[in-house]
Amino acid sequence: MTMTRRAMLAAPAVLRAQSRTEKLRVASVGVGNRGSYLLKHLLEVQDAQVVAVCDLLPDRVDRAASAVGAKGGSAKTFTDLRKMLDEVKEIEAVVLATPDYTHREFDIEILKRGKNLYAEKPLALTVEDCKAVVKAAEAAKGVFQVGFQLRHDPARNAAMQWILAGKAGKVLQCHGMRHGGDLPRDIAWYFDKTKCGDIVTDQGIHILDLFRWAVGKPPVRCYGDGGTTLFVNDPPGRTVMDHYSLIYEFEGGAQINFSHHYFDPPGWTGIQERVFGSEGAVDLAKAEFQPRTSRQRTKLEVPNEGKDSTYMSLAAFVENVRTGKKPLNDARSALEATVVALMGTKAIYEKRVVTWAEMGV
Ligand SMILES: NC(=O)c1ccc[n+]([C@@H]2O[C@H](COP(=O)([O-])OP(=O)(O)OC[C@H]3O[C@@H](n4cnc5c(N)ncnc54)[C@H](O)[C@@H]3O)[C@@H](O)[C@H]2O)c1
Repeated sequence: MTMTRRAMLAAPAVLRAQSRTEKLRVASVGVGNRGSYLLKHLLEVQDAQVVAVCDLLPDRVDRAASAVGAKGGSAKTFTDLRKMLDEVKEIEAVVLATPDYTHREFDIEILKRGKNLYAEKPLALTVEDCKAVVKAAEAAKGVFQVGFQLRHDPARNAAMQWILAGKAGKVLQCHGMRHGGDLPRDIAWYFDKTKCGDIVTDQGIHILDLFRWAVGKPPVRCYGDGGTTLFVNDPPGRTVMDHYSLIYEFEGGAQINFSHHYFDPPGWTGIQERVFGSEGAVDLAKAEFQPRTSRQRTKLEVPNEGKDSTYMSLAAFVENVRTGKKPLNDARSALEATVVALMGTKAIYEKRVVTWAEMGV
């Protein structure tokens, strides 16, 4: 049975979404460091077809178009997002990976034009801007998903399902470390806190998002300390920190304890994401559960084990557009993740306890 256009428009979003049989026509916008990686994985998603690519820099546009061509496709090329949206009417979805300071403006523009949008994190750089994006997303007809791809990482997702099912007991503490070398020198805006919101909001946000998800609610207050002690004015003009530590407290007693620095010498690596519950501890990245009652560790069952988190996240986005399913990393959850990061940054800058209530979410 075929539907008339009027009946189609009147049908619920889920029904409309389920009726599609063609590939989702996607545009990749911002094809630098992250955007190229997203594009590489998008080209592997069976139900997606990249029809346009856009970046301010023509050589990046050409490189992206070649990547599409190498997979047997063909993408129209643009250096202006609005021109692309005006001219290529067939675009149904956009994957956006432009710098953080552009997110508010571009997210809202794309959503207002009725496109489905996969937008990189953070949601925006102020609470007010985050709320403006959420408002646009909630008024939009399409799916809005934010680039917290670790939620779709097979190991971390399996670990989170274990925790959310209560199998680790009551969550007591989330302990995280993100220790490494300094930020990539070839991306200048990473070093300017007015453009990236500083390193809690631009980098630490991924692990903080997982931890907030594990606890199941936003924190009540936080405090911390941080600054720049190794990479002082390096590169010249740097305004972002090179280290910080944060503690978040939740109603009911749970805590996040997170340390992030760029002090690791070559060859060292220190990334750890562990959730300690009343029944035992879960290592998120390893998908392992260590019960309190035995030395026997449980390796959790991991569907799609080994698959790349970015591929999984993009595949989920395309599936969400098809089925009308709510994304795991939707506007509201991205708002909370971003405000957790902004709150931590505020606590460090102002050297005081900052409450969730004062963030005005
Ligand atoms: N999810 C993740 O793990 C992850 C990892 C890295 C970066 N990111 C995010 O991805 C985004 C991009 O970061 P990046 O590392 O790729 O930076 P980048 O500077 O390498 O890439 C950004 C690209 O956007 C282009 N651009 C800037 N303004 C534009 C405009 N007006 N129109 C079209 N293109 C424009 C730039 O020319 C550049 O090619 C940021 O939001 C960052 O936070 C996410």
